[in-house]
Amino acid sequence: TWTPDAFVETTVADLKEKIGDEKVILGLSGGVDSSVAAVLLHKAIGKNLHCIFVNNGLLRKNEFSAVLKQYEGMGLNVKGVDASARFLDGLEGESDPETKRKTIGRVFVEVFDDESHLVENAQWLAQGTIYPDVIESVSATGGPSATIKSHHNVGGLPDYMKLKVVEPLKMLFKDEVRRVGASLGIDKALLGRHPFPGPGLAIRILGDITREKVAILQEVDHIFIQGLKDWGLYDKVWQAGAMLLPVNSVGVMGDERTYEKCVALRAVESTDGMTADWVNLPYEFLQKTSNDIINKVPGVNRVVYDISSKPPATIEWE
Ligand code: XMP
Repeated sequence: TWTPDAFVETTVADLKEKIGDEKVILGLSGGVDSSVAAVLLHKAIGKNLHCIFVNNGLLRKNEFSAVLKQYEGMGLNVKGVDASARFLDGLEGESDPETKRKTIGRVFVEVFDDESHLVENAQWLAQGTIYPDVIESVSATGGPSATIKSHHNVGGLPDYMKLKVVEPLKMLFKDEVRRVGASLGIDKALLGRHPFPGPGLAIRILGDITREKVAILQEVDHIFIQGLKDWGLYDKVWQAGAMLLPVNSVGVMGDERTYEKCVALRAVESTDGMTADWVNLPYEFLQKTSNDIINKVPGVNRVVYDISSKPPATIEWE
């Protein structure tokens, strides 16, 4: 029978043998998968694992600095690269969801490529790919039910890098990855983090992206997510986030009429993201969160809660 301890033991041994004293590059995202892959590889090859953590400017509020510190605290050999401007400039004026994804994928490859050239003599590229990523990208490229969205977790690096690929979590489901992470002693809060899409807030800002919109959505998202934690709801939800809608609506503030932005909150239960149900969050929580958002985030005067399941709706709005 499969156990996380046995998986760690055999995988670390395999990685040692496979990689020897060659250097490995790994892109950390702040998520569970890449973090577990990194710790596993670190256990096998130590400082020969070179981690790169890119800030694309589309992460949650304070995420880049907080997570970078956490990685450093775990003893990982990690370089934080703030490429926010490169991503946001590249996205300027773009409102098509798939083009936004492609732009982010392309800029990521450029930034990652630049950074990986700084690691002399690297032979390997490690990825935190898990089993559902493999399935989704297969159906995205050819299956009869070709998926609607292009995920950039799988592949996507330029051929000329010619690195050998190592994917230690490729056969695992998310819950198994979490168990492996626990067996490796990784912090519970990190392992329990909700999934977050690679393109980040770009696909939660419907339409074109500006720095101002990113800042607004980061505040809204922070109030929502912190609220879920404060109310003991965070761990009961598989994934949650806020969407900034391309809609202004009329409101009143004091004697003034306002015409401001609307945000949608989304929280879902799921096991693998392929199907999902909206979460029946307590009305008192929604009431408090809505008030906090409208009172504290300038530019937002309306909050709605998404009660659609997947299918037919998707988790993200783009
Ligand atoms: P959807 O919106 O397709 O999302 O129901 C299913 C899961 O995938 C995440 N997602 C993405 N992750 N790149 C990613 O790395 C993407 O382009 C992307 N689109 C959606 C989404 O957050 C959810 O967990």
